[in-house]
Amino acid sequence: MSSPQDPWHFPRTTLAETHFALIDKGLANALVLFGRRRTGKTEFLLKDLTPVAENAKRTVVYVNFWASPLAPTAVLIRALETALKGGPLFTRIGLAAEGLKPSVKVGAGAAGVQGEAALEFKSAIASSGDQLAHIDDLFAKLTSGKRKALILFDEVQELAAEPGNASLIAALRTSLDIRKANIAAVFTGSNRDGLNAMFARRAAPFFQFATAIDFPPLDDAFVDHLLAAFAQIVGPKLPRQAVLEAFHGAHRSPFFLRKLLEQLALDPVRNVGVSAQALRARLANDLGYDRIWLSLTPLQRGLLAHFALGSSSPFSEVSRMSIGQAIAAPPPSTAQLQTALRKLLRLKLVLRLDGRSEYVLDDPELGAWIAASLSEP
Ligand SMILES: Nc1ncnc2c1ncn2[C@@H]1O[C@H](COP(=O)(O)OP(=O)(O)OP(=O)(O)O)[C@@H](O)[C@H]1O
Ligand SMILES: [Mg+2]
Repeated sequence: MSSPQDPWHFPRTTLAETHFALIDKGLANALVLFGRRRTGKTEFLLKDLTPVAENAKRTVVYVNFWASPLAPTAVLIRALETALKGGPLFTRIGLAAEGLKPSVKVGAGAAGVQGEAALEFKSAIASSGDQLAHIDDLFAKLTSGKRKALILFDEVQELAAEPGNASLIAALRTSLDIRKANIAAVFTGSNRDGLNAMFARRAAPFFQFATAIDFPPLDDAFVDHLLAAFAQIVGPKLPRQAVLEAFHGAHRSPFFLRKLLEQLALDPVRNVGVSAQALRARLANDLGYDRIWLSLTPLQRGLLAHFALGSSSPFSEVSRMSIGQAIAAPPPSTAQLQTALRKLLRLKLVLRLDGRSEYVLDDPELGAWIAASLSEP
């Protein structure tokens, strides 16, 4: 991670202040921010929200469940323990990650378990009941002085994905609930189904606990900021219009734009359009889009293409006809569509919107890749 003074970072201070005010003024105990993959959630938490909260004298704890989905309890304990040692979050994050890589040993002789997979964590606490009590203890210590705390839970849907985490989630909710006057929480996630399972359903463990907010995408001011940084650090001025087009073509992905500028910094020709196209192809290759495509049945491909072209509900007669036409087959039945959809949901290629029978592609870049491939001769 780069320093807080990272010249490439586009500050979103107003957004951070608005979010923090909701918490600080007691209008909400907790926020849940939903934003698609790679839209800048983590960068916002660490570089915008954290300084605002630390200026207001809050102890900030950052918990990233994605860092080690196999060991969420260890992740949480480590983050709380390092927070209790004091100091700003920026200097603590490296410490929190240390010792968290689970050493996965599979097979005979693993940690005394013969012939089975065993997981070992470099955490001192052994049993889960002890761990949960320890977590509550750490929460109590965090608010024992006059200080208040803000806990940032990144990629929280990872917790809900594993049924074995139910006791951890329940304990977390209780700990946060009884200390809500002193501990606020911000949760983020990129999977709406996963977040709904934690926050929105009536039976959800965090039902009515947090205020849901859509994380706004970055706008053209972000592009201008990066263009100015590029001119200052690298030298040449890039053509604004071409860079804006590339940014919008990539669904306003900050990840894409940062990669594009990295590539342009090294490229003496600096043709933005050509470079953006090459980057898109490289990312498609890195992310294995062609391999994914080849592994699917014609109907699954037809469905993905249907979503890629902007339709969200496949079950109407018109949709079924057009999917059938696209794959040169009779219109698929509802049952056939449901089977294909189940597979696409399981592969996390599509998302169901709020439990309705409408769907979108999980990765808009995959959609763009499919749409571009379809229009190629
Ligand atoms: N405000 C910003 N200024 C500059 N670069 C940014 C900004 N926000 C995001 N980025 C860049 O965009 C990329 C993606 O950001 P980030 O990892 O924060 O997204 P995310 O939503 O947390 O992604 P994921 O869903 O993968 O966790 C990173 O390379 C990051 O540096
Ligand atoms: Mg992130």
